[in-house]
Amino acid sequence: MLKGAELREAIAQLKTEKNAVIMAHYYQEDVIQDMADVVGDSLALAQQAAKTNADIILLSGVYFMGETAKILSPQKKVLVPDVKAGCSLADSCPADDFAAFKALHPDHTVVTYVNTTADVKALSDIVVTSTNAVGVINSIPIDQPILFGPDRNLGAYLQSLTGRQMVLWDGACHVHEQFSIEKIVALKKAHPESRLIAHPECKQPLLVMADFVGSTAALLKYTQNEQHTSFIVATEAGILHQMRKASPAKEFIPAPPSDSTCACNDCEFMKLNTLEKIYLALKNERPEVLIDEAVRRKAVVPIERMLEISAQLKL
Ligand code: 13P
Ligand code: SF4
Repeated sequence: MLKGAELREAIAQLKTEKNAVIMAHYYQEDVIQDMADVVGDSLALAQQAAKTNADIILLSGVYFMGETAKILSPQKKVLVPDVKAGCSLADSCPADDFAAFKALHPDHTVVTYVNTTADVKALSDIVVTSTNAVGVINSIPIDQPILFGPDRNLGAYLQSLTGRQMVLWDGACHVHEQFSIEKIVALKKAHPESRLIAHPECKQPLLVMADFVGSTAALLKYTQNEQHTSFIVATEAGILHQMRKASPAKEFIPAPPSDSTCACNDCEFMKLNTLEKIYLALKNERPEVLIDEAVRRKAVVPIERMLEISAQLKL
């Protein structure tokens, strides 16, 4: 198997030969982020997937991100490095159960976080990401009841920001729920100058303590724009790569998980992807993301609605 510079060169060659684009989420390994044509949060990846001229999109992230790209660009071939790169939050919301939950609240507008399967998106009225969720919810008439899923932590946080009472699905991300308040309090004492920043998938007590809460893109921007020079970062550790690149003189401390025997602030699904798997996926043109056309046609509607609102909000 090729390694290092040779492997990167072989990937670049395949990309040119096949008119492929590599899109990577901020939680990918540093080497993948550095090799990618586009690095971004889930909103940016969806926006880029909708407008790329490439024939092949290699989506290095988790499976639902590949599905979102395929839903938006059905005429393109969408590849993922490893089909086992799933998402505990998407898994916490099986489509059949969600359909039954939705049936209990027939008059509600169904807003779902992008971390869901294509089948759940097909049951939704509007999709959101953590970058645009507040704007999307505020765009829904105030007297219209809302059902939100699958992330209970993001849902509760959005309720506190928008003042909207929403019916919440009881799902969560195992990575963001693992952060230890006790250890973070100790870290803050040891680094009183440090700003605590957190992703809204974290539990409420951590979000209340945080100096800033935002999506991966918003956290990155905050660290660039703030005068502060030290940050305790409560989200998946992959984002630290872009933070350090953008602000090399600043200090970034990954928030510790409660279980010190594992690096729970790494998403093991995101970290299944490797440069070798990207090379093989481009070479063999598989694993390919395929979606039933009837599901895709339903799922594209709430995603396009989200993209339209994001464009109006200049996000
Ligand atoms: P972003 O939308 O902030 O990229 O988050 C995606 C995700 O999976 C967070 O765990
Ligand atoms: Fe899913 Fe959590 Fe991994 Fe994000 S960090 S992809 S929400 S399991």
